[in-house]
Amino acid sequence: MYSSRILPAFILLSVLHFAPGASSKEIVVDDADTSIVYTADGTLSSIWQTTIPSLKPEPIDSTQVHAGTVHSGSGTAKASLEFTGVGIDVYFVLPNLTTLFVLPTFSIDGVIQPDRIKQAFLDGNGAKIVYNAPVFSKSELSNGTHLLEIAGNYSTADGNTSHFIIDYIKYTQLEPSANSNRASIIGISFGACFVSIAIAIFMNQLL
Ligand SMILES: *[C@@H]1O[C@H](CO)[C@@H](O)[C@H](O)[C@H]1NC(C)=O
Ligand SMILES: *[C@@H]1O[C@H](CO)[C@@H](O)[C@H](O)[C@H]1NC(C)=O
Ligand SMILES: *[C@@H]1O[C@H](CO)[C@@H](O)[C@H](O)[C@H]1NC(C)=O
Ligand SMILES: *[C@@H]1O[C@H](CO)[C@@H](O)[C@H](O)[C@H]1NC(C)=O
Repeated sequence: MYSSRILPAFILLSVLHFAPGASSKEIVVDDADTSIVYTADGTLSSIWQTTIPSLKPEPIDSTQVHAGTVHSGSGTAKASLEFTGVGIDVYFVLPNLTTLFVLPTFSIDGVIQPDRIKQAFLDGNGAKIVYNAPVFSKSELSNGTHLLEIAGNYSTADGNTSHFIIDYIKYTQLEPSANSNRASIIGISFGACFVSIAIAIFMNQLL
């Protein structure tokens, strides 16, 4: 009696399990995370600071900063992150310094990549300080371990230097063994189906 109604319901559930789920995840690395390696020689032409810089006339609003922390690099300061994934995005706190200072460079596995610092500032639509500014984005990397390096510069010739404020980094990782997860989900679906058939047969016998 009930089997004809219950069975289609369970089969529908099983089919829904086949719908492709998210096979990647995004991992946020705050600037304070120890997986980021900061290097600098500590002189004025190469230094990292973790106090929020005091800017005038528009001070940085620490409540708009991710996790309330930043790393400010000057001169040849360099930040490196080794990550396993297929894409990466870097977010700065971006004051209107893009015309005044030497922009830092971004490289992946030792190759310098185009940045979007100026564009991120323009996208701020007139804001004097842009928060969560997406200053670098790289996707379609091979699924493996890569090295991101963010490096400022300092010229002894004219004294031009870099100043930049790292807020956080986000990278995209493919879920480990996505295929075996899918296999176990299919297994559970079939399991549920057999249980439903068993229950249906059992109930049929009762009625
Ligand atoms: C570097 O300094 C020179 C001379 O002061 C200036 O003309 C030039 O615009 C500066 N470049 C940058 C990127 O700040
Ligand atoms: C950014 O700085 C430039 C050069 O100093 C200035 O012309 C411009 O008005 C500034 N923009 C904003 C939004 O503060
Ligand atoms: C740093 O600046 C020097 C001279 O100002 C230049 O030759 C060099 O290519 C720059 N390095 C990077 C990584 O931009
Ligand atoms: C991607 O790499 C990770 C880590 O090496 C691995 O666990 C995962 O199965 C890989 N995914 C694909 C689709 O190759």
